[in-house]
Amino acid sequence: MRKQIVAGNWKMNNDAAQTEALIASLKSQEKTTNAEVMIAPTSVNLSQAVKATEGSGIEVVAQNMHFAENGAYTGEISASMLKSIGVNTVILGHSERREYFNETDEMLAKKVDAALANNMRVIFCFGEELADRKAGNEETVVGNQIKNALFHLGADAFESIVLAYEPVWAIGTGETASPEQAQDMHAFIRKTLNDKYGAAVADSVSVLYGGSVKPANAQEIFSKPDVDGGLIGGASLKADDFFAIVNAF
Ligand code: PGA
Repeated sequence: MRKQIVAGNWKMNNDAAQTEALIASLKSQEKTTNAEVMIAPTSVNLSQAVKATEGSGIEVVAQNMHFAENGAYTGEISASMLKSIGVNTVILGHSERREYFNETDEMLAKKVDAALANNMRVIFCFGEELADRKAGNEETVVGNQIKNALFHLGADAFESIVLAYEPVWAIGTGETASPEQAQDMHAFIRKTLNDKYGAAVADSVSVLYGGSVKPANAQEIFSKPDVDGGLIGGASLKADDFFAIVNAF
């Protein structure tokens, strides 16, 4: 059985007091599913969030990290720094990192390696832009993003990798991929894994969908056979909405 996961990507939202308050309301929510629940606060609030979520079953994850272990990289944080405060999972390759911070497949391959070398779990994000989909190139783009950043890895590494398909045109736009579009792409992703690593890997990796998931559409998206959960932006900032999504399986 693949893990079902709902991860909230808070992006650059919530200061320290707001982080405390949102975690308090998340802890008061009732969870009625087996889904793993994760939240990704901004890096300055990670340590505080780890403490505030202790014993709640909510895992605190990072939104990004650098590939180097330490050194002259002003403003950056490393895998071992995250580990040292109890953060064991990192989101890598989010489209906003790719677009606004010029993260390339090559850089992301190094970040994935650094995370795995530090025994971290990776939520690896990718997805096509609107122009790619209009041109019918979405599978080529997604296939290349996966191959370029991950296919140097051995099969065992996929025990620590969660994939998140996030079509760029659906992120923060209110426009969601239809459940069928999500399913088609997730099936393609699994086939891509299967072609390279075989069925055992392809069937065991959780593939999340992200892009304007909300309480109103989560159930239909999560009902698709190859969709194992969601990476949630906007709707993760409200405890009620986030848990309505967690409980949508
Ligand atoms: P959204 O963001 O849910 O606000 O569309 C998703 C994401 O960027 O992970």
